[in-house]
Amino acid sequence: MCGIVAYIGHREACPIILKGLKRLEYRGYDSAGVALLDNSGEFKVYKKTGKVADLEASIGSQSTTAHTGMGHTRWATHGAPNDLNAHPHLSGNGEFAIIHNGIIENYATLKEMLIKRGHAFKSETDTEVLVHLIEEIHKNNNVSFEEAVRMSLTQVIGAYAIVILSKNTPDYLIGARKGSPMVLGIGEGEHFIASDATPIVEYTRNVVYLNDGEIAIIKGTELTIKTIDNTIKTPFIHELEINLESIEKGGYEHFMMKEIFEQPRSILDSYRGRIQLSEGIITMAGIDKFEDKFKNLKRIIIVGCGTSWHAGLVGEYLFEDFARIPVEVEYASEFRYRNPIIDENDFVIAISQSGETADTLAALELAKSKGATIFGICNVVGSSIPRLTDAGAYTHAGPEIGVASTKAFTAQVTALTLMALSIAQIRGTITKQRFHEMIAEIETIPAKIEKVLQTNEMIKELAVKFKDARNFLYLGRGYGFPVALEGALKLKEISYIHAEGYPAAEMKHGPIALIDEEMPVVFIATQNNNYEKVVSSIQEVKARKGVVIAIATEGDKHIAEMVDHVIYIPACEESSLPLIATIPLQLLSYHIAVLRGCNVDQPRNLAKSVTVE
Ligand code: G6P
Repeated sequence: MCGIVAYIGHREACPIILKGLKRLEYRGYDSAGVALLDNSGEFKVYKKTGKVADLEASIGSQSTTAHTGMGHTRWATHGAPNDLNAHPHLSGNGEFAIIHNGIIENYATLKEMLIKRGHAFKSETDTEVLVHLIEEIHKNNNVSFEEAVRMSLTQVIGAYAIVILSKNTPDYLIGARKGSPMVLGIGEGEHFIASDATPIVEYTRNVVYLNDGEIAIIKGTELTIKTIDNTIKTPFIHELEINLESIEKGGYEHFMMKEIFEQPRSILDSYRGRIQLSEGIITMAGIDKFEDKFKNLKRIIIVGCGTSWHAGLVGEYLFEDFARIPVEVEYASEFRYRNPIIDENDFVIAISQSGETADTLAALELAKSKGATIFGICNVVGSSIPRLTDAGAYTHAGPEIGVASTKAFTAQVTALTLMALSIAQIRGTITKQRFHEMIAEIETIPAKIEKVLQTNEMIKELAVKFKDARNFLYLGRGYGFPVALEGALKLKEISYIHAEGYPAAEMKHGPIALIDEEMPVVFIATQNNNYEKVVSSIQEVKARKGVVIAIATEGDKHIAEMVDHVIYIPACEESSLPLIATIPLQLLSYHIAVLRGCNVDQPRNLAKSVTVE
């Protein structure tokens, strides 16, 4: 977590850094800071608890003419979110300044050693230890700034993306990464460093993704990349695909709303070019190369966290339904620490919007070390997971800025649907006719979502009735179950109302005890498989005076007589339900959160990209 930005070049650094930090705020937003290096030869450091806007206000109209500088937006790991713990941190002698995303795991040992050598610390952070270590090594070994950084990193255990400045060598900017992302922007006579490309795209499209264990040394206008073991590397310059418009709000009040409304388009983008309806084929480059493997595959393991884990659950149903392959869906954080039985016969899929989630990455590394084939379904192009995997499929949803995932989820489910159908075709578990019906169905999804989005005003009115609820229950069966989980997660993430998702039939084994006239229960009650059974569960809730909101199929008048509120969605195949039924639940959470005065794009304590365990 945490976002970092740095600049060296001919422009004024501070505005570039502040703007970049605002774009990275989804990564953490409990405090922020900048360090600027101007001709005075001294650092100007500004730090502030709260959002980047608070930092900006505190800098106000002070003159910041520096052309070199760096900034940080924090998601606290070590030490409370306050001005003192905010980054940048300075070395004891004030010569070096650092910003850091990640965790230095052996910071306590290093700190003890440094205290014995006379170092005094101002903050409770692990980061400050690293900048003191650089000072210590620089002093004792009589080496250059860049060599001191390199030597220090050989002593560090943990994950980091760091940028370091030295006031005595103001034309230098040094960045390094291990386990946390870092992108370098190469402009005309200027360089940028950031956690992702969003702060850079406005200035240049040429970027270098730094690899784990690499250090970028920018001296004036020259870039050198070397490894921590001191081997020089040739930078590989990529051209950015994202554009500025896609990372701005485009007239919506919040990114989340913009991203919900983008779904007809983002789903289309995730299957565009992969489906040829007239020829009845699906082409997925990542899948085709494993044709032989899929023919005899005995199981698939899917790993992910949060919303991506929910998409994984949908994937389980899809792969089992269509491709008839047993699937295990695992929380990446559990999988990596429980000695899983896995070998070269396994096919492991990691699902991750950011491609950077630390637990998902580690789970994948574990699977790779055991010889499994590893595959990524990610949204952020060039992120760590796609770079680690044997193959993968990008979801092409475009940048997702709202912390609560919306369009990334539906794009993940779209990619999983295409994969399941492709593999089914390879294994001969789907008839030609069914395959055709399914591709035709996928092509109807964007229009169906457009229709669901027209219920926005009605859902907004409904939200008024439930804005003061203290608990919510979401129930569904079959493909409706992951939808219920995702609906509950959306609500708790952004409105702070306690919500639980359950398989509808499991209600009898616990949650039913919670039901009274105060308990809103959202049912995924569309006319697909299990409709009658879900209706029985609705009756059980109504018999106990629960308030029922049903997501139902257009034209289902019967359900309207039974429940308190109905949100209609167009009829669809069972397997498309997660793509359509999730939309009204995203809208309901959004409106409830807005009515409660919550910051929907940056909910408290959360971060979009969780790069720590
Ligand atoms: C965080 C985000 C969630 C996201 C999860 C997994 O918790 O707030 O929205 O689902 O991480 O992230 P990933 O990038 O791996 O999909």
